[in-house]
Amino acid sequence: MPEPTHRPVMVAEVLAALRPAPGGRFVDGTIGGAGHAAAILATSSPTGWLYGCDRDSAAVAAAEQRLAEFSGRFEIRQANFTKLAEWVPPASCDGVLLDLGVSSPQLDEPERGFSFQQDGPLDMRMDRRQAVTAARLVTEAGAEVLATTLWELGGERNARRFAREIVREREHRPFQTTRQLAELIERLEPRRGRKTHPATKVFQAVRMAVNDEIGSLQAGLAGALKLLKPGGRLVVITFHSVEDRIVKDFGRARARDYTFTGGVDVPELREPRAPELKWVQRRAIPPPAAEIAANPRSRSAQMRVMEKLGHG
Ligand SMILES: C[S@@+](CC[C@H](N)C(=O)[O-])C[C@H]1O[C@@H](n2cnc3c(N)ncnc32)[C@H](O)[C@@H]1O
Repeated sequence: MPEPTHRPVMVAEVLAALRPAPGGRFVDGTIGGAGHAAAILATSSPTGWLYGCDRDSAAVAAAEQRLAEFSGRFEIRQANFTKLAEWVPPASCDGVLLDLGVSSPQLDEPERGFSFQQDGPLDMRMDRRQAVTAARLVTEAGAEVLATTLWELGGERNARRFAREIVREREHRPFQTTRQLAELIERLEPRRGRKTHPATKVFQAVRMAVNDEIGSLQAGLAGALKLLKPGGRLVVITFHSVEDRIVKDFGRARARDYTFTGGVDVPELREPRAPELKWVQRRAIPPPAAEIAANPRSRSAQMRVMEKLGHG
């Protein structure tokens, strides 16, 4: 069977936003199968440079293989993008890309435990060195925490009921497999001809909690801005409204001029300060219809582009 690969989304739009050119330095904080990274390196040939990272060792291996033709022009590490500042020099880059969420190989390989469509261990860790798996979270978290997670990260309107039933089920049988969780939710909320599987939101919420995706995004955005030179661009692609709101609020807060207000009551912005960035496009950009038709997994993508202000 061929290796499952990830189809990068909105490649033309990403390139238009990052404007890779020879001599440029770029960061791909979610390198995945390196589709975007290869496009950035090709467009910035022969001297563009790329720092890349991913939390998933399988993605790092796939990316290294994919980028072999650009050897000597990139450095890739297995790391959370929140740690980029530990190895990428500050104010050194022309562009940073964060293409959030999961990749197709993660979703399609049952043993990674991300999918309710196929049975596998209830894992969902992007970084398999991490101790907390989805099975552990679902088996050990209190009903209250579970309900909040399902509601806040999944927008699951049955959050309370599902959380209560998960707790009841695990008293008989600890959660070990994706099928066990998917079947419980299907029993509680029969499908009745709907296209979307009733466990979709539950799986999304658990995945986001296991990988602390919101915490990483908040820290990662602030860190990414520090890596950029003035004029450098931050491109973020989200697949979820909670994430998009975080990106929008981050950009908004830093695009505003707080020089004269004496600061606002947000811990980071209490001191008066000048805007740090401007929006390149104020609105989130969706994929073109033709892309959604060709790659349905791109349908919920939203891209936002910001440019760092300041002087060299
Ligand atoms: C949508 S895929 C990226 C695909 C990639 N742009 C490509 O062209 O193939 C998202 C990737 O980001 C990784 N990821 C998600 N959150 C991360 C984080 N906080 N730090 C590093 N990698 C992360 C996932 O492991 C996954 O491989």
